[in-house]
Amino acid sequence: MTTENALIEPIVLGAERRKKPSPGARKTVRLGLLGCGTVGRGLLELIERNRALIEERAGISLEVTKILVRDLSKERPGVDRSLLTDRPEEIVAGSLRGATFVAPAPCDIVVELLGGIEPARSLVARAIADGKSVVTANKALLALAGAEIFRAAARSGVRIGFEASVCAGIPIIRALESGLVGNRVDTLCGILNGTSNFILTRMTELGESFEAALEEARRRGFAEADPSLDVDGHDAAQKLAILSELAFGVPIAPGSVKVEGIRQIEPEDVRAAKELGFVLKPIAFARDLGDALELRVEPTLLPIDHTLAHVRFEDNAVLVKGDAAGELIFRGKGAGSLPTASAVLSDIVDIARNGSAPLRYADAPPKPAAPDGHARFYIRFPVIDVPGVIGRIATALGSRGISISHASATLVPGKPGHGNVKVLAHDCRASVLAETIDAVSRLPVLTGKPVAIRILETS
Ligand code: NAP
Ligand code: HSE
Repeated sequence: MTTENALIEPIVLGAERRKKPSPGARKTVRLGLLGCGTVGRGLLELIERNRALIEERAGISLEVTKILVRDLSKERPGVDRSLLTDRPEEIVAGSLRGATFVAPAPCDIVVELLGGIEPARSLVARAIADGKSVVTANKALLALAGAEIFRAAARSGVRIGFEASVCAGIPIIRALESGLVGNRVDTLCGILNGTSNFILTRMTELGESFEAALEEARRRGFAEADPSLDVDGHDAAQKLAILSELAFGVPIAPGSVKVEGIRQIEPEDVRAAKELGFVLKPIAFARDLGDALELRVEPTLLPIDHTLAHVRFEDNAVLVKGDAAGELIFRGKGAGSLPTASAVLSDIVDIARNGSAPLRYADAPPKPAAPDGHARFYIRFPVIDVPGVIGRIATALGSRGISISHASATLVPGKPGHGNVKVLAHDCRASVLAETIDAVSRLPVLTGKPVAIRILETS
C-alpha cells in the first residue's frame, strides 16, 4: 500500500446512529461474494444467524446474489448451491479474456474473499470501475496494490472496506481511522499473525513440534493458503504496513518492513525462554522517529509480565500510543471463520448505511527506514560438545565488544556430541550483533547457524 486511505465520514451523533430505523426505511443490499472458503462460509453463517439483528439495528436486509468458487463439486454444507458459480463474469461486469459475455447477477457490494493477488486484483478493479464498493479481507492484495485500488475507488466514488484484512475480529482499522483520528501516534506494537502465535503458544505450553502446531493451525482455517506467508512473517508485515499507513499518515513502500519468521525456532529456544523468565512471541513493531520509520516483524522475547505476553493461541493484539488517548490495547481473535466474518460484515453494514464517501490522499513521500536500534538479545549457538566451548564463544563475542549477562550449555537429546550454547547479550546494536554472530559462526566448534532473538523490555 502506498497511499493514505483515510475516509472522510459524515459526522453522525452517537444517539442518532443508534436510533432504530423505521420499518419503512429498510433497504435490501445485494452482495456478490468472490470466494466461499473459511471466511466466505463464516460470512454466510453470520448473515443467516444475525439477519434479524442486522435488519433491526441497521435497517438493512442482506441478500447474497452469487458466490464465486474454483471447484463447483466441493461439499459446502449449508451453502445454497444454486448461488455458486465458477465464472467471475457472473458477479463482476466485463468478460475475462477468452470468456463469453454474460449479464452479471445484480449486486451492490462485491465482497472479495479469494485471497492472493490474481484474479482478486483484476476482479476488484473491474468491480470498482463498474461503480461497486468492495469489501476485502485480502492484506496481500492491499499491501501490493493498495495505492491503485484506493485511487481507482476515489475516481469511481466508491468505498473499499478492509477491516478484516488486519487482526480479523478486532476493529483496529476503524479505531485508527476514526476513533484515534485526533491523536498523533508514534509507536504501534502487536501480535498480528494468529497462525504464528498459535504455533509458538502450542510449542511453549503443550510442548508440540512446530510442524504439528502448523498442521493444527491449517486444520482450523487460521493459516493462509500458502502458510509460508504466516510462518515467514510476510502476512504480519503486510498488516503492519496497512496499520502504519493509518497510524502515521504516510505511505509505506513495499519491502519497508524488516521481516523474520519463526521457522528457525527450536523447542530448545522455547524452553530457554521460559527458564530465563521470557515468553516467545511473533512481534510486529512500528515507530515513527520523525524523519524515518522503524518497521519490523520478528520473533521476540517478552518478559512474562509484558502486556503482550498473555496473548495466546490465535489471538492478536495491538498496543497503540496516542498523544491524547495514551496507551491503548486492542485484543481478540486474529484469525478464524466467524471473527473474520464479523469484520467483513461490519464493513458491509457501514458502507450500506453511510454510502460512498470521498477518499483523502496524503501526498507525503514515504519515509526512509530508521537505522537499527539497540536491544538485548538471546543467542543460541549450535555446537560440538567439547570442553571450554562456552568460554570460546564468550571470548569471541567479548573481543568484538559484545558482553554477556548469562551463558549456559545443554546437550541435544538423541544427538551424542552435539549441544547448544545459549547466551544473553547486553544491550547492543542489532547490526553489530549480526556481524559478530557471522564471525563467531566460523569457529570450528559451531555446527549450524546461530539463532538471535531480540528482547523487548517495555510494555
Ligand atoms: P480459503 O479458505 O482458501 O478460501 C478461498 C476461497 O476462494 C475458496 O472458496 C476458493 O474456491 C475461492 N477461490 C480461490 N481462488 C479462486 C479462483 N481463482 N477462482 C475462483 N474461486 C477461487 O481462504 P480464506 O481463509 O477464506 O481467506 C480468504 C481471504 O481472507 C484471504 O485474503 C485471507 O488472507 C483473508 N483472511 C483470512 C482469515 C482466516 O482466518 N482464514 C482471517 C483474516 C483474513 P474453492 O472453495 O472452490 O477452493
Ligand atoms: N493467516 C492469517 C493469520 C489469517 O494467521 O493471522 C488472519 O489474517
